[in-house]
Amino acid sequence: MAIKSEKNGPLRGEIDVPGDKSISHRALMIGALAVGETRILGLLESEDVLATANALRQLGAGIAQDGEIWRVTGRGVGGLAEPSTVLDLGNSGTSARLLMGILAGHDFPATLTGDASLSDRPMERVMAPLRFMGASFAARSGGRLPVTVTGAEQPLPISETLKVASAQVKSAILLAGLCAPGKTTVIEPHPSRDHTENMLAHFGVKIESKMHDGGAKEITLTGQAEIAGQEIQVPGDISSAAYPLVAALLLPGSDILIHNVGVNPLRSGLIDTLVEMGASIEIVDPRKLAGEPVADLAVRAGSLTGVSVPGSRAPSMIDEYPILAIAAASAHGTSVFEGVGELRVKESDRLDAIVQGLKAFGVDVEETRDSLTIHGTGAPPKGGATVASRLDHRIAMAFLIMGTASDHAVIVDDGSPIETSFPGFAAVMNGLGADIRDVTE
Ligand code: S3P
Repeated sequence: MAIKSEKNGPLRGEIDVPGDKSISHRALMIGALAVGETRILGLLESEDVLATANALRQLGAGIAQDGEIWRVTGRGVGGLAEPSTVLDLGNSGTSARLLMGILAGHDFPATLTGDASLSDRPMERVMAPLRFMGASFAARSGGRLPVTVTGAEQPLPISETLKVASAQVKSAILLAGLCAPGKTTVIEPHPSRDHTENMLAHFGVKIESKMHDGGAKEITLTGQAEIAGQEIQVPGDISSAAYPLVAALLLPGSDILIHNVGVNPLRSGLIDTLVEMGASIEIVDPRKLAGEPVADLAVRAGSLTGVSVPGSRAPSMIDEYPILAIAAASAHGTSVFEGVGELRVKESDRLDAIVQGLKAFGVDVEETRDSLTIHGTGAPPKGGATVASRLDHRIAMAFLIMGTASDHAVIVDDGSPIETSFPGFAAVMNGLGADIRDVTE
């Protein structure tokens, strides 16, 4: 379904955004590995997270929705059961990769598949370390889905140095390590989101981390722990808050408050970057929720200037480059994003999607294999074109946000991918004064 975004506003009011996607996946998965009941409040009820829930049900965990609470009845570490059918993870890389880690510690075969986007994404980065732990894989050419995983009866603990700072690869190894005797260690080149570590610690697993000179991070987990069900409150997703936040910055006169946003420093690189660009973003009432930092964000419109973002910051804002690109295209002067090659293997080739999308609106933009340069004009691009969302929720939302401030409408050819992470996106935005609707309306 095509969606159109037209300038309206200013944006005013207070909103909540849906629960954090990364934390929601982990709450369900680790709950399924605990003994007894885990109660989750604020779970993101989006297609990606529901794919994880369905897969875990197929693996024998009990997962039920009880009003606002999701109840997970876990099977204990190593206690999942062979599924009778294929596990379909839809668009969700997090579901596929983290489940591969869990399945590496279970001695039965399970086949994972996904949509056209997920079936084109690299899985070898996860399979390679899990093979060392004793799992075996039969994958399509290029290490792509569908993949059949056969886990090890007794996985081996390993020490693995990652080439890319990927929270998904790190998490897969740690979750496999949960079933292994002794210590499993992961060293990442730059710190990536630590929600798996935080949640495992919340469930009582012994997990420690230390920084190396030069910026690498080492995480060590002691496996074969008995873990018991917990209470979890999921904060709002900063990766979803990013869209109303940038819209409010771009549309003159806007002034909004976003409640209850997770502001884990390994996720909040976008805020640091926008503040460097001159944005007015106030962190109100910082607090902790189930071990995760949370705050309200007060955002006011204002002019932005171009910025240089070093590659070392990329892991803390890896999903925010599409929306940052919209802010950069509207800022005064040039912005350069370095070390962003990982964007080529997300739900789409996001560097190409950003470049082609911005060019369609006349923005002067250049790419290399792993960098992006955007020459902003000091005003939002004029709009008046259609952008392909490429089965990528973040590309769809970023360009619809551009439309909220452009002089002419922006159309996104297919808005359905937005359901993977931000159900109710248009309603939340329109509640603030935006005008985002199906083209047929
Ligand atoms: C995620 C990690 C990131 C991110 C993805 C969610 C996670 O992927 O892009 O949307 O929940 O661990 P990588 O680990 O591949 O960088």
